[in-house]
Amino acid sequence: MTRLDKLVSDKLNITRSQAKALIKAGSVSVNGTAVLSCDFKCGDSDSVFANGSPLDTREYVYIMMNKPQGTVCSTDDKDCKTVIDLLPDDMRRKGLFPAGRLDKDTTGFVLITDDGELAHRILSPKSHIVKTYIVTLDKPVTDEIISDFEQGMTLGEERLLPAKLTVMNGSTARVEISQGIYHQIKRMFKKHGLTVTALRRIKMGGVFLDENLSEGECRYLTDSEVGELCK
Ligand code: URA
Repeated sequence: MTRLDKLVSDKLNITRSQAKALIKAGSVSVNGTAVLSCDFKCGDSDSVFANGSPLDTREYVYIMMNKPQGTVCSTDDKDCKTVIDLLPDDMRRKGLFPAGRLDKDTTGFVLITDDGELAHRILSPKSHIVKTYIVTLDKPVTDEIISDFEQGMTLGEERLLPAKLTVMNGSTARVEISQGIYHQIKRMFKKHGLTVTALRRIKMGGVFLDENLSEGECRYLTDSEVGELCK
């Protein structure tokens, strides 16, 4: 349960005293009735309106974005558009951040949330959540590369966990990795003399990127998708 003035201030991105003034002016209703006390407690199931518009009372949100090329996975950047900049106004709220990073030129599934605990679980080196990518290369994949991926290759000093590489056609392949090392896929192919020319994440854990989302678009995850990610 959250205090009404805190909820209004968080969701409308206004100061606590501005929120108190709105409440005292009778502009905030809970379940159809104007509430004038700032310390009134409300929860996820309450329907809260301010100035006639509904407020999102969910504690956390989980957003699937189809990241376009040229955007960065951070909350702000002085030179580049971030995935947060791409959120439509009605999905914006305080505290949203991308859970994990794709390179600037990588496209596809980015999870944006304000649930630090879930993000921590997904990103923890111990979590080993499988991330699936479609990769395009400048040369065809060989059996030797597939077997090096499968065995858990060494990259510099580091021994990687086994990864699955499935050729789709010619120089396009599906890669499944369960770690999140810097430029991991590009470096895994570079080791074998191949250059990644396009990389797209299509799945995280059991959740597929929604094919109906064009690049730059996003939608909320369903409850069952959130459940899949928590598994
Ligand atoms: N591996 C990479 O090399 N880049 C990404 O963006 C994701 C995985």
